[in-house]
Amino acid sequence: MESTRIDLKTVVSHAKEYGFVFPATEIYDGLSAVYDYGQLGVLLKNKIKAYWWASMVQLHENVVGIDSAIFMHPTTWKASGHVDAFSDPLIDNKDSKKRYRADVLVEDYVQKIEGKIQKEITKANKRFGEAFDEPQFRQTNPRVLANQSKIDSIQERLSQALNKEDYQALKQLIEELEISCPVSGSKNWTDVRQFNLMFDTEIGALADGSSKIYLRPETAQGIFVNFLNVQKTSRQKLPFGIAQIGKAFRNEIIARQFIFRMREFEQMEMQFFVKPGEEIGWYEYWKEQRFKWHLSLGFEASNYRFHDHIKLAHYANAACDIEFNFPFGFKELEGIHSRTDFDLTSHQTHSGKNLKAFDAESNESFVPYVVETSVGVDRLFLAVFSRALQQQKLPDGTQRVVLQLPEFLSPYQLAIFPLVKKDGLPELARTFFEELKYDFSCVFDAKDSIGKRYRRQDAIGTPFCITIDHDSLNDNKVTLRNRDTMQQERVSLDQLKQKLNSAVLIKEALKRL
Ligand code: GAP
Repeated sequence: MESTRIDLKTVVSHAKEYGFVFPATEIYDGLSAVYDYGQLGVLLKNKIKAYWWASMVQLHENVVGIDSAIFMHPTTWKASGHVDAFSDPLIDNKDSKKRYRADVLVEDYVQKIEGKIQKEITKANKRFGEAFDEPQFRQTNPRVLANQSKIDSIQERLSQALNKEDYQALKQLIEELEISCPVSGSKNWTDVRQFNLMFDTEIGALADGSSKIYLRPETAQGIFVNFLNVQKTSRQKLPFGIAQIGKAFRNEIIARQFIFRMREFEQMEMQFFVKPGEEIGWYEYWKEQRFKWHLSLGFEASNYRFHDHIKLAHYANAACDIEFNFPFGFKELEGIHSRTDFDLTSHQTHSGKNLKAFDAESNESFVPYVVETSVGVDRLFLAVFSRALQQQKLPDGTQRVVLQLPEFLSPYQLAIFPLVKKDGLPELARTFFEELKYDFSCVFDAKDSIGKRYRRQDAIGTPFCITIDHDSLNDNKVTLRNRDTMQQERVSLDQLKQKLNSAVLIKEALKRL
């Protein structure tokens, strides 16, 4: 079967049409970069979280989980560095009053030049056909070369300005490139300023009289401040990890690309505490583990790649992203960071509490080093959903839209159809539903033709459908249809259970890790 990947616009409308993701508060025209998960979305999201949790906590004896509060003492964010340094460069257009990330305006400009290069390549490809050699064309075509050198020089200046936090240079670059506001069309810009991404609100007065409090921008700090509590009560010794799934909030200036960049989102983070000096070995270990975990979802390995950070944050001594090929190109899906002892040491200083671990082997106390794995649930949802969604041309010339989700993540694992709504078939189909619903997530559907019902289940990713027909009344067997191969076979209830057990249970996926 010939499959075509689907663009982001279609992904967004499919997610809405079938009850996966809705724009938040849509009856009031929505809220930008905030989304609600619908009746099928919540099932898929919960399974993604369950799979991550089981693979981290259940499969690792030395990883335990917590669920810390979203509100934390505000000094937490002073200690973590977020109050002083968690910001983006922001610029306003004085005419439209619209606010932009200054670096993104420049990146968008660069993308337009890249578009010009791509046009030249497409034209040449058409002209030369099979003989077309893209790398050679890129190296020799004068127009492509001129545009590429323009891109290189802009990117060099952008990265220098960002690294030095030289916002005057950033504004100058925007002015020199004559970048105009996409809304007003004017080049009437304010200066570039730092914009802190944390949301704040008020809480009934704190002990020190202040009342400002932040919505956490990452779940990791909830783990750091509980390090001692967990170590003492779980009796874990280094190396050990603490995992957490929870909401995080960032006042992102640019809100686009659907659930890729949200203002309210969920993270799945794990902080792994190790002896100083052992962190790079563990960093490599978790890099490999996490890459393997992503591959276990069954999409081709070419969808993933590592991006090592060249410029490291001041607290890190190694860091990389696992990038995924989203409908808009390769972008960060998960971060893996060797964070040294920065966070615990800083919390120790700010709280005055001893956050050292005692190592009985060496009879020494020290602040542990930390390796972190951090992945966004919503980003993972988008990766899985957008990669699974396919437009297929069938051998008989017809088309279908199919959501080829990993079977163990599908919202429904089994759809149950009576062939017709008479002759006792709905009643028999119900007995199958009642028998199977305790082990598998099932959906019952008796409406429309069988063909239409198959298409409906294909579109929401249900890996198996069974049809109960007149023969079933005599032999108690059903027709089992496979979403991906579309092949059908006659099976008994026991055979059906066996097939489902090996294909759709998270347990089986965990064994394959
Ligand atoms: N504790 C480390 C940390 O928070 P990060 O790279 O800022 O690191 C980790 O975020 C992951 O969280 C990202 O790789 C991404 O998957 C997810 N994430 C970050 N910001 C997000 C946003 N605005 N919307 C959705 N997911 C986001």
